[in-house]
Amino acid sequence: MSIQYKSISIALLTILFSCSKSTESNCNDDGSLYNSSSYPIGVALNYDEFKYNSKNANITQKQFNSITAENTFKADLLHPDIDTYNWLEADELATYCKLNDKRLHGHTLIWHQQLPDWILNFQGNKAEWENIFKLHIQTIVGHFKGQVESWDVVNEAFNEDGTLRNSIWRQKLGNDYIQRAFEYAHEADPDALLFYNDYNLESNPTKRNNVLSYLNNLKFNDVTIDGIGIQMHINIDSPESSQIAKTFEDFSKYDYLIHVSELDIAINPSNKDIELNKQLLDRQALKYAEVAELYNQIPSDFQYGITIWGVSDKDSWIPIQFKRKDYPLLFDDDYEPKTCYCKLKDAL
Ligand code: XIL
Repeated sequence: MSIQYKSISIALLTILFSCSKSTESNCNDDGSLYNSSSYPIGVALNYDEFKYNSKNANITQKQFNSITAENTFKADLLHPDIDTYNWLEADELATYCKLNDKRLHGHTLIWHQQLPDWILNFQGNKAEWENIFKLHIQTIVGHFKGQVESWDVVNEAFNEDGTLRNSIWRQKLGNDYIQRAFEYAHEADPDALLFYNDYNLESNPTKRNNVLSYLNNLKFNDVTIDGIGIQMHINIDSPESSQIAKTFEDFSKYDYLIHVSELDIAINPSNKDIELNKQLLDRQALKYAEVAELYNQIPSDFQYGITIWGVSDKDSWIPIQFKRKDYPLLFDDDYEPKTCYCKLKDAL
């Protein structure tokens, strides 16, 4: 082969090679996220994936030091009938956390979703509703006393316009049910840290301000609320960094521990027919780094940690929930680290 032909074919091969590898990250997972960080780095565990997939379990073990059960602690799974609690899987996670020195964050006691039929169909007067509400909270918090360090006591109780969501709990128990949920949880485990958890707090100032003044008012009346869970199901375009910074500042100013509680960064929020490429993955990586850099600015006393909502793109709730292709997490479908894993680790 002439020199000229040889160099053309090398060039072609290089192009071909780089195309087929266009989503590869040049990033390895030799390090550990939590070892790179001064605050806890958590993950939401999909129980079956964790239990039956050693790749998922190995990554969890090495990268994360805080665990949130993605579904196992929710009412439909944990409390499927009025007198039945399914402790088995939840206890197994609690034991794993204890043996492996991982913090366990309980998610979630009171929510309008993933409720069992017995609650949805419960026929009772106000006092009877209050009774099942209190028992639900106190049985679960009491069971995990000393094992669960913190709870999302109430989840997603506000609408986007900042008003109280008309959930079944509000309908049956009245407007002040949030206060009583915190009081009951505190009574059952005075050492547990108690959080209010919600989404779009960073992108919707009306919702954020209303949630903040509602919680401040409860604190003013001596209700124990230790922190705010800012879910942060965000995407590569939004919210802007100034909005995220403002959210962290607003809550830390009023002494709330800040838990970025369900972070994932979607690549395809408007459901286009996209091909994953290096440019999109790089933008995602920058956004992950941006969240960590802004979180680093919070006074350390208020940094409760950053929890990622799942291990690999294969485990993510986003494609199923929103019926679209997406790749929001740190590891790809084969559990290989993505660019965002390395950029996040560097930024911690
Ligand atoms: C999601 C889980 O990831 C899914 O597996 C489940 O089917 C639905 O719930 N806000 C929350 C989380 O507080 O509990 C939700 O988790 C995601 C949105």
